[in-house]
Amino acid sequence: MRNQLESLKAHSLVVADTGDIEAVARWKPQDATTNPSLLLTSAEDPRFRHLMDRDVDRVFINFGCEILKHIPGRVSTEVDARLSFDTAKSIEKARRFISLYEEAGVKRERVLIKLASTWEGIKAAEKLEREGIHCNMTLLFSFAQAVACADAGVTLISPFVGRIYDWYRQQRKVEDIEISEDPGVASVARIYTYYKKHGYQTQVMGASFRKTGQILALAGCDLLTIAPDLLEKLSRTEGDVPRKLSPETAKRSEVQKIAMDEKAFRWMHNEDAMATDKLAEGIRRFDADARKLEKLLTSLSAAVTAK
Ligand code: E4P
Repeated sequence: MRNQLESLKAHSLVVADTGDIEAVARWKPQDATTNPSLLLTSAEDPRFRHLMDRDVDRVFINFGCEILKHIPGRVSTEVDARLSFDTAKSIEKARRFISLYEEAGVKRERVLIKLASTWEGIKAAEKLEREGIHCNMTLLFSFAQAVACADAGVTLISPFVGRIYDWYRQQRKVEDIEISEDPGVASVARIYTYYKKHGYQTQVMGASFRKTGQILALAGCDLLTIAPDLLEKLSRTEGDVPRKLSPETAKRSEVQKIAMDEKAFRWMHNEDAMATDKLAEGIRRFDADARKLEKLLTSLSAAVTAK
């Protein structure tokens, strides 16, 4: 009998959600995703000291290049959260990442630039996609964010499951929420249905998982990005994974197309208390971790100079 990870791969493209290069080498996923928090954890790990540099952008690219040696597909590299409300600066940063990758011999087709799914981030992605710079829209919690990303023609979105689950668990003061009631799982299923029903090319990659049940409930989603501990659990559990999401079922749904502009986006997103909280908190957390990483790089380079 196949294990759940092998079985899942028949329905969805499996991506590793980690900055740990050895984990990427072990799990051999198609693609890999990183974020500032994951890269801070790896930067603190002495195994990856050789990838450190004074310039945080170069550290991100060093990790990206190293990860690419172990996968056939694409790596995602995230734009500084401090630029989340600045379209022009986000574009500038994305272009810098791409030129650093190209200097290192990596073609832009192998990179996804991750941007926060703010209105400004989505507008930056729209422009970057026209330059052949492919984007992965992150910190995506609301349906409004998903609709705006599809309209902008971005390559891929990463709707979060676990952070939505965390928010509802906290609100309801409960230990757990059953998969059939899980608002994070429901959010990804709704977005997937909307995209397939209306023929959008933007790929949906479920992200931020807390338990394997959430992953299995989304089998069939275009891509699923999964942390190493959950990849391990899936690979240790035997069993067939039935497909849960499919374009055929989505096409039969009655979901209506939504007209989106900046005002509608801001209104709809603001109506969703969970998404408003989680987007703001997500930006703060990624920023805090990027600052910690910068501090670490400064102290490492001071230690080298003192030697
Ligand atoms: C991936 O792209 C996301 O950054 C990641 O899945 C977030 O996961 P977390 O909610 O566990 O931090």
